[in-house]
Amino acid sequence: MLKVVVLISGGGSNLRALLQATEDPGYPARVIAIGADRDADGLGLAEEFGIPSFTVPFTNFATREEWAAELVRQIRVWQPDLVVLSGFMRLLPPSAVEALTPNLINTHPAYLPEFPGAHAVRDAFAAGVTETGASIIVVDNGVDSGPIIAQQRVPVLPGDTETTLHERIKVVERTLLVQTVRDIADGALALETLT
Ligand code: GRF
Repeated sequence: MLKVVVLISGGGSNLRALLQATEDPGYPARVIAIGADRDADGLGLAEEFGIPSFTVPFTNFATREEWAAELVRQIRVWQPDLVVLSGFMRLLPPSAVEALTPNLINTHPAYLPEFPGAHAVRDAFAAGVTETGASIIVVDNGVDSGPIIAQQRVPVLPGDTETTLHERIKVVERTLLVQTVRDIADGALALETLT
């Protein structure tokens, strides 16, 4: 059974999808803890699903490195096989990436390498593209530049707003995330071969 820690910053709708998948006894992974860099709304899922959670507020630390060191320390308490960044809006410094990779993946609401960074949906929408996408990557020291594990195109429809587009992308992100975690748990995907 793959032990997974998921880090969030927001509402956690993608995390919810993973949690729902883990309720299937046949799904080969379990979320053992949920972490956040702030008092994220998605932490309510920890209570709802009866899962421990921890918060390491970015604003409590003088430097990114000190914050990340505490974040990694708290993650290591759970001894996870995999750490998933799902709507986690902080850039991890190299010290943290090195401590966790390659068992560190991220969901991104664009068809990387298109539109990396914190405003992928806004940027795609502003660029007027007719399609964008969703991607799952291994986290490296760049900004959404790590090896691509899975990705799928998502159309931009007439009348879309940034919000309707993002919601359509998230539906695909959730599917990719649930399948990717399954593949890692089953051994169908060996992360160490990607980096
Ligand atoms: C997701 O699209 C994620 O890729 C991006 O922010 C969104 C988070 O959504 N970084 P949620 O918190 O899972 O609802």
